[in-house]
Amino acid sequence: MCPEIMTKVFLWTLLLVLTGIFLNYYTDTPVPKEIPEKWKVRIIDASMRTYSHIINLLVKLGITTHFSFLDRKLSDWFLLTQMTGYPWGLSLTADPYLRINDTVLDYVRVKVYEPLSTIRFDRRPALVYIHGGGWSLLSVDSYDPLMRKLARDSGVVIFSVDYRLSPQYPYPEPLNDCLTVVNYVISHARELHIDPARIAVGGDSAGGNMAASVSLRIKHKISLQLLLVPALQSLNFNTTSFIENTKYFSQSINNPQSVVFMTNYIGISPKYVQEFLINNHTSPALKSSHFAHNTDQRRWLPSKYVRSLHLRSNIGLKIDYGNEDLSRIIESTLIDPYFAPLMADDDMLRDLPETYIVTCAYDIIRDDGIMFSERLKAVGTPYTLVHYHDGFHHALMFPHGPLKLDVAERILKDLVRKLRKL
Ligand SMILES: *[C@@H]1O[C@H](CO)[C@@H](O)[C@H](O)[C@H]1NC(C)=O
Ligand SMILES: *[C@@H]1O[C@H](CO)[C@@H](O)[C@H](O)[C@H]1NC(C)=O
Ligand SMILES: *[C@@H]1O[C@H](CO)[C@@H](O)[C@H](O)[C@H]1NC(C)=O
Repeated sequence: MCPEIMTKVFLWTLLLVLTGIFLNYYTDTPVPKEIPEKWKVRIIDASMRTYSHIINLLVKLGITTHFSFLDRKLSDWFLLTQMTGYPWGLSLTADPYLRINDTVLDYVRVKVYEPLSTIRFDRRPALVYIHGGGWSLLSVDSYDPLMRKLARDSGVVIFSVDYRLSPQYPYPEPLNDCLTVVNYVISHARELHIDPARIAVGGDSAGGNMAASVSLRIKHKISLQLLLVPALQSLNFNTTSFIENTKYFSQSINNPQSVVFMTNYIGISPKYVQEFLINNHTSPALKSSHFAHNTDQRRWLPSKYVRSLHLRSNIGLKIDYGNEDLSRIIESTLIDPYFAPLMADDDMLRDLPETYIVTCAYDIIRDDGIMFSERLKAVGTPYTLVHYHDGFHHALMFPHGPLKLDVAERILKDLVRKLRKL
């Protein structure tokens, strides 16, 4: 696009963002006291709410629908503006330390980041990165600033996967796209000048879910998996992290309605969201099955992660209710370990690649990553769990830019240190 149009788009977006912040700011979101950069976090929260108000309005006016092309562009622009100050992010800026290619591997579009520092090497380490956004939003474009930083700082070649999104493409399509790219990189390692013994897969949120599935599928060919604030199960939405954290950022990143991302990925109507939220989507039989044991918080959630004393002593679930009809339709998906990696049995978890898990205290899906690490510990698979007491779900998007957060800098620095050893 020509710079003139970009400038217009930018000014309009800026105007919308500023108006949004103005309208939202007075509601003064509660920010947990462990998070020091209160005003920055409030702006992040306010702009996310602004985005959802705008998209909800556009949907009401009949101009677009949720998870349309326009919705996805809007969410990209909002996130990029928060991360870099510009809705187009860094796309107009060449990076002096990287060669960046948009390419197609097999049939999947991929953005490749090659650090110039290692560009002449014949056996370079590689990371296949799967972006977040609930399988439904965001893209390789909104992740571009983060991928640049990760590639630049770590010296690792990054393949950022532009997988197809739900609800248009439900499970397993997005996962298949990611698998295709990982398999391509493995089988073409020589031409790509990649060391086949140093290939990592990673992702955040929904991307962390698919990174874990890829690792379960082709464990021996991966040497490290990075699961950043991953979503790993959908049997239980009454986890302590859900209960504790919906009081913060409840209209943005911790909005309980984001369970719609799960219904999108499963491929069922969003009308079931309310049933998911009270765990009505699983039958009594499923609630007492061994699959439910895999998400049993009395077994898999060390109480040191739970802030509320009341919840610490009371994390049992009711198991004598549930919508049998709904459960019957979705059960085979809910218990599929490639859909929900916490459903993997001990044997599947036993010889997984080394696993690096990041969790954030103020995240409604915090417990998924913690429970997964406890399960790995139980079977003796090497793992590292790094828990950030002052983090929230998408804090890692802000290691730079106008809303730079200290916790994001630490998450990225720790991640880079891990990748340098790849
Ligand atoms: C990136 O593009 C360059 C040419 O601009 C090409 O030589 C190189 O092979 C490409 N790399 C990948 C991984 O596609
Ligand atoms: C949800 O969790 C709370 C606290 O752990 C518990 O008291 C409550 O019974 C649970 N609700 C259901 C429906 O399982
Ligand atoms: C939960 O399931 C029961 C049994 O199918 C049903 O009668 C009830 O309406 C459901 N609750 C909600 C909130 O949908």
